[in-house]
Amino acid sequence: MLKCSFIEGPILHRLKYGKGRGQNLAKAVGFKFNKNRTIIDATAGLGYDAFILASLGANVTLIERSEKIYDLLKAAISEAKLYGGEISKIVNRMNLLFGDSKDILPNIAPEVILIDTMYKDRKKSALVKNDMRLVREVVGSDSDHVELINVALNNASKRVVIKQPRYAETLDNIKGCSHQILGKIIRYDVYVTI
Ligand SMILES: C[S@@+](CC[C@H](N)C(=O)[O-])C[C@H]1O[C@@H](n2cnc3c(N)ncnc32)[C@H](O)[C@@H]1O
Repeated sequence: MLKCSFIEGPILHRLKYGKGRGQNLAKAVGFKFNKNRTIIDATAGLGYDAFILASLGANVTLIERSEKIYDLLKAAISEAKLYGGEISKIVNRMNLLFGDSKDILPNIAPEVILIDTMYKDRKKSALVKNDMRLVREVVGSDSDHVELINVALNNASKRVVIKQPRYAETLDNIKGCSHQILGKIIRYDVYVTI
């Protein structure tokens, strides 16, 4: 069953052992340059990446267009707000919006945008993660991925970060990225837009 929680489960392991601002996600969004990053997670999903970024001090706006995933995420954020302690402080830095990022991004003057769609071939890597397989069953394959990236590139004032499986092909119709951050399983393609 698809579940979303910030008070139990794998996210707490990631919070505890994730190497803080030294982890690749933090490097990709550019924490080095600004300790108080404001980040738009344009593909919120279960909110795990957003939660990690918020735990590092960022204010994160999450956008999700699937009603079912949005409802799960909204409930998990509400539950975590009531939980108290550090978890509540973290989710208080998360602001969830419902809708399609392609429509919303041009209206919110984003600085840094994170994109992690279901588009890529996840057979060997991220599909191993059961929860992402279940998300895919709900949302499908995000076939408008390229369109979303182009909207993000046209609107981010600082950078766009695309999270992909490490060996995913670079898309032909997207211009080359500024740099990449490579992990064992995940790759971040960073487009500096300043
Ligand atoms: C791979 S999941 C994201 C996982 C997320 N990074 C996490 O840590 O839980 C992709 C999510 O993005 C959402 N999505 C894809 N394209 C979108 C768009 N244009 N606007 C809003 N949400 C979108 C999908 O509905 C899906 O829930």
